[in-house]
Amino acid sequence: MVNKVGLIGWPVEHSISPNMHNAAFWALGMTDWSYELVPIPPDIVGKSLRTLRDEGGFVGVNVTVPLKQSVMPYVKPDERARAIGAVNTIDFRDGSGTNTDVMGFLDDLKANGINPAGMNVLVLGAGGAARAAIYGLARSSAKVTVVNRTIDRAREMVTELVATAGIQNVTVEMLDDAAEQPIDLMVNCTSVGMWPNVEESPWISGVPFPRGITLYEMVYRPESTMLMHQAISRGGHVIGGLGMLVRQGAAAFELWTGKAAPLDVMFEAARQALVAKSK
Ligand code: ATR
Repeated sequence: MVNKVGLIGWPVEHSISPNMHNAAFWALGMTDWSYELVPIPPDIVGKSLRTLRDEGGFVGVNVTVPLKQSVMPYVKPDERARAIGAVNTIDFRDGSGTNTDVMGFLDDLKANGINPAGMNVLVLGAGGAARAAIYGLARSSAKVTVVNRTIDRAREMVTELVATAGIQNVTVEMLDDAAEQPIDLMVNCTSVGMWPNVEESPWISGVPFPRGITLYEMVYRPESTMLMHQAISRGGHVIGGLGMLVRQGAAAFELWTGKAAPLDVMFEAARQALVAKSK
């Protein structure tokens, strides 16, 4: 019998998760495992989850846009998923739902030699990716400032995170005010600059770009974004988002299989898949 896992979302065709996971199964000789893309329209999410579990032979699934919130009533979300308000990994065996974006992000910071404790961190964005980053950073004792195009959305997000997860040390500001304060680490959690809009940057022109910062760019396609160029031209150091993508996948892999994920294999498969998609 094949142990199936996969990605649910609407649409899902763009995903490189099958490449990463199937390469990992192959590398470990797990020929009885496979990772599949499962497009699911938002209005039938509950029924679809039951079908995958009861008839589809699925051990678990990753969840992407726009289903990360809508799967919540059908799973037992852990503390992290509840705090972030989004599930990206489900295990059908116990019905649990978690969010591996937090681990993916924190693991990748660590792999890049960054310990956020005590750092002044500027987070750009207030969507699901920002929630995961802010939760992880606040739990790691960083001092977080959030800016967002729609400032009220950022305020609501922080109010919710304080209420659900009791996080502290997070404030919301306008970009020009935030730019005048010390910044050790900037994290782009917006989708601005993502392919095909590669000429765009979330940094508002007219606000001086801070010098000598470390930028963590969650956008991984293209590999080098406009914001990364801006940071480098001001003497900064940059980290692209591929590591987070691979490590959130690795965390899901380990949850489903109970085996250590072959990170190098997953990185290589992800890189190759991105190159193939860019052609
Ligand atoms: P995700 O769940 O991947 O984080 P999302 O919830 O759509 O996606 O959030 C996208 C983020 O990118 C938001 O912070 C959004 O800002 P708004 O809250 O104001 O919508 C930000 N974003 C998207 N397009 C933008 C743009 N052109 N300029 C500035 N910010 C943008």
